Amino acid sequence: FPPELIRNFCIVAHVDHGKSTLADRILEITGTIKPGSHDNQVLDRLEVERERGITVKAQTASLFYELDGKTYLLNLIDTPGHVDFNYEVARSLAACQGVVLLVDANQGVQAQTLATFYSAFEADKTIIPALNKIDLKHANPDAVAAQMKKALDIEPSEVLRISAKLGTGVPDLLRAIVHRIPPPVGNVNKPFRGLVFDSWFDKRRGVVTLVAVVDGQLKKEDKISFVSSDKVYEVKDIGLMRPDKVSAEKLYAGQVGYIMCGMKTTKEAQIGDTVSHKSSPVPPILPIRPAKQMVFAGVYPEDQSQNESLRGSLDKLMLNDSSVSVTMEQSAALGQGWRLGFLGLLHMEVFLQRLEYEHGATCIATIPSVPYRAKFKFEKQIKEFRTEVLTVVNPQSIPEASVVSEFSEPWVMGTILTPSEYMGEILAICMERRAQQKNATFLDNTRVLMQFHMPLSEVIVDFFDILKSKTSGYASFDYEDAGYRPCTLVKQFPVAIQATVGGKIIAREDLKQLRKDVVAQKIYSHGGRDKGRAQKLLNRQKEGKARMRMVETFRYHTTVLLKF
Ligand code: GTP
Repeated sequence: FPPELIRNFCIVAHVDHGKSTLADRILEITGTIKPGSHDNQVLDRLEVERERGITVKAQTASLFYELDGKTYLLNLIDTPGHVDFNYEVARSLAACQGVVLLVDANQGVQAQTLATFYSAFEADKTIIPALNKIDLKHANPDAVAAQMKKALDIEPSEVLRISAKLGTGVPDLLRAIVHRIPPPVGNVNKPFRGLVFDSWFDKRRGVVTLVAVVDGQLKKEDKISFVSSDKVYEVKDIGLMRPDKVSAEKLYAGQVGYIMCGMKTTKEAQIGDTVSHKSSPVPPILPIRPAKQMVFAGVYPEDQSQNESLRGSLDKLMLNDSSVSVTMEQSAALGQGWRLGFLGLLHMEVFLQRLEYEHGATCIATIPSVPYRAKFKFEKQIKEFRTEVLTVVNPQSIPEASVVSEFSEPWVMGTILTPSEYMGEILAICMERRAQQKNATFLDNTRVLMQFHMPLSEVIVDFFDILKSKTSGYASFDYEDAGYRPCTLVKQFPVAIQATVGGKIIAREDLKQLRKDVVAQKIYSHGGRDKGRAQKLLNRQKEGKARMRMVETFRYHTTVLLKF
């Protein structure tokens, strides 16, 4: 396939606007899969994805499409659509030249419509806007096209109208993909270089790496290396995703395909890495940007006897998700566990659900926290920690305030799109969470776009849930990094527990902060130094998972952080 007959594109949209349905329809229309042969969306493969109806891991498919007597190779890169997965969206974008921006013709422009539009726009990709679900009775494509003009400056005449469900307008969309998106610029005769944009662990065959070939060609048994490591691999298998793997003799410039080369973990194939022939190394195509973990939580087995098996499950799952970070952690109440770092709150939830569904592992997760920074006052600590500014991901390791000149915490720029009647309510929710309003723009006389600066720690606890319940699910929210800002942290504080009836306080008890290891001490006083016995007592004491969660939650609330 000469590059001029190739089109590499992805579909971006707000969650539930129909990406996976559209991907399926495109696969059917191009004859890649048989119509109706699948109950669920073909590209949403993971169990959690089916369960939650969201795309977690990007999946890719190569398809052949006939137009005007020519056969085109279209590479569809299905991207995850949720707020936490922008990192995956960004790397999928790097592998293509254009995007289809899908907007629900009933729901209109939403927070992630804006976020994904700007990612594509900033990356200089061709954008094909399309209104989906025009078959719905309440669809209002004209009004939504006008919102797109106001919010994104997209001309209504450029916007296609489709029903991914029924297939209406999808052939026009395919034609637009060929006509509007430029082909990849690559040279088959130059030395081979490819961009790694996804990888996962296949239980039977080891690590599968997806690569967009920028220049040159690759065949089986070639010796390859990656810019980020010195290791050399031999190519065992290459091919296309149709959408299942189909071996090929060679991969050429402009193509997107898989490589299997005997890697043991996805950590060896870093996303955004550049692959080349060992004999002709090339400079990196993209600067490597490691995944940035912004939400951390302790994960413990329900019972210490399950420690080994939980560890095994975590290892396996992490083979498939190189964006999770891990360190060992010890808790007096819960024993030996791990502190895991996630890209966001949903990423954490999805990971823990996969742990349970795919690996049968149950665990206790502590209240999530954000990475704080502590700037040291004295040489002593700077020497001890070998840094002036320490990033702390575990509340237990926050240094004493006396040695710190400044604490800081991550802030985000939050974008909320909402029916205008909820504006006041949303403003109140945000203000309670230390937000600073940046602007509010009416997209038409019913919908408003609001932007706030706010601390990430205020977002990760219950912000989504409250926003959803106060607006009956009509508001959408997305956020992006807005740097660190100084904050005040108090390591321990008393907690006031009040009982109220009809707004009247009828009882109040102040709980002093827990002394360190209070749970363990209590148990040890029964069990002496016998840790096994102490553990048994603890087991007897616990009334199931809920109580254990409470203990740990309480410990965290008392030992951790209060912000002003
Ligand atoms: P994520 O993968 O979570 O980002 O969602 P998605 O954007 O892939 O959405 P998905 O394809 O799962 O569609 C969401 C819901 O909308 C499903 O119930 C679809 O059946 C429905 N849907 C998608 N396209 C259409 C359409 O054209 N018309 C109608 N009526 N429903 C549609």
